[in-house]
Amino acid sequence: MNMHYISSRGGIAPVGFKDALLQGFAADGGLFIPQQIPRFSRAELEEMGSLGFTDLAYRLIRPYIPVDEIPDQDLKELLLSSFASFTDTRVAPVIRKGPDHFYIQELFHGPTQSFKDIAMGFLVGCMDYFLQKDQKSLSLILATTGDTGPAAVAAAAGKKSMNCWPLFPQSMISEEQRRQMTTVDADNIHPVAVTECANGGDDLDIVVARMFNEPQTKSALKLSSVNSINWGRVMMQVVHYFSGYFQTVDSLDQKVIFSVPAGAFGNLCAGSIARKMGLPVETFICATNQNQTLHQIFGQGRMHKNQLIQTVSSAIDIVLPYNFWRFLSLHSPDPSITKTVMDRFEQEGHIEFEPTLYHHFAQGFSSVSVSDEQTLSTMRDFYHQYNYLLDPHGSVAVSAAREQQQKETPIICMVTAHPAKFPDITSLALGEEVARENRHPAIEATMQKTETMHTCSCHELQETLTELIQTLLAH
Ligand SMILES: Cc1ncc(COP(=O)(O)O)c(C=O)c1O
Repeated sequence: MNMHYISSRGGIAPVGFKDALLQGFAADGGLFIPQQIPRFSRAELEEMGSLGFTDLAYRLIRPYIPVDEIPDQDLKELLLSSFASFTDTRVAPVIRKGPDHFYIQELFHGPTQSFKDIAMGFLVGCMDYFLQKDQKSLSLILATTGDTGPAAVAAAAGKKSMNCWPLFPQSMISEEQRRQMTTVDADNIHPVAVTECANGGDDLDIVVARMFNEPQTKSALKLSSVNSINWGRVMMQVVHYFSGYFQTVDSLDQKVIFSVPAGAFGNLCAGSIARKMGLPVETFICATNQNQTLHQIFGQGRMHKNQLIQTVSSAIDIVLPYNFWRFLSLHSPDPSITKTVMDRFEQEGHIEFEPTLYHHFAQGFSSVSVSDEQTLSTMRDFYHQYNYLLDPHGSVAVSAAREQQQKETPIICMVTAHPAKFPDITSLALGEEVARENRHPAIEATMQKTETMHTCSCHELQETLTELIQTLLAH
């Protein structure tokens, strides 16, 4: 039976893969989830253990994409081209670093040096594939805390089927991240710097969600999104968990722990799906900074609308982790509970999860909130003791793992960005010389180029963006 997609809010008829991908949000304002999660047998997993990243990706995502929507050969080609520009053929290599049983999974070998590149090339490639076939075009709008935007820009640049509008909170991302969006010479890329966002990327997410919830606006502006609201992103992020696992253990009898820096919870949602597909994971450590919404959810079973705190790990400065709703639908005994819980949270601004529900979804998860002092001191320790420079988000994952280390289970810490994206934070932790010595040539190249961007305040964003997109579509 072909895979279909339903909404986390349960209010739409099932749709196919192409529709789930191109629509971004479901029509009822929910996020798309697959009707069922395929589970692989031990024999199938054993066979996958020796595959390279692209072949592994093919095996893992094939069940989610009906063959009549993307035939085998086309899917293989899309995958090959998604990883062609990675600087490490393993795509998401694991190395042994740190205390006993610690492993680092480097997820920054793509074109814009963050883990977002792993799924973005494929997602944008698939959208382009469908749009070209139907001779259609889309406007991709996406909110970014600094890494999704560059990855989307690199993947979309020059593609005739789409215009790409990355929205970023002015002064809340690094100059390096901003330049990766504003210096790309392609006429379908239109970065927008947004001022007056007290809650950073969360304020932008709200505007994006509002525009998607107005059917008229969505269709007139041909909107779609490549934020991790898009199922394609989460689906593809399943792959690096399997790859990390196979690179770390010798036998499927071994379990591992993953420590993951979490913001909007897309990456960890993918991890939980990987476990449902059969991956032997003992625990996921949900590593947050001082923005503690996820820590409260998993540690205390309650959720609050918190105020944003600006930290040294700025890409995970997020107070509303929207992928949690998708996760809740997939991990509740009754998926329709999500709508009830979401509506109550919207109305009251806080929620206590009912104990049975909490135990159900929080099983196999632990959470740690890491302070800026810990983030910086782990960067220092790792550099001096193990000769390895962590970026601040990788450092949040490692700091959390140090707190939670158990027995002898291998612990894989996901390093989600290259430190050269955050030289100011490296300088703060280790001094300017270390930051200078650890530059990245691709990032350095953006420093010589001229920047182009639109600017507006958050309260005029919807109006300005609508006008800009309308003008572009009219030409
Ligand atoms: C470097 C980095 N690490 C971690 C995250 C968090 O990922 P997610 O939003 O999927 O939880 C992000 C993005 O938000 C990021 O840019």
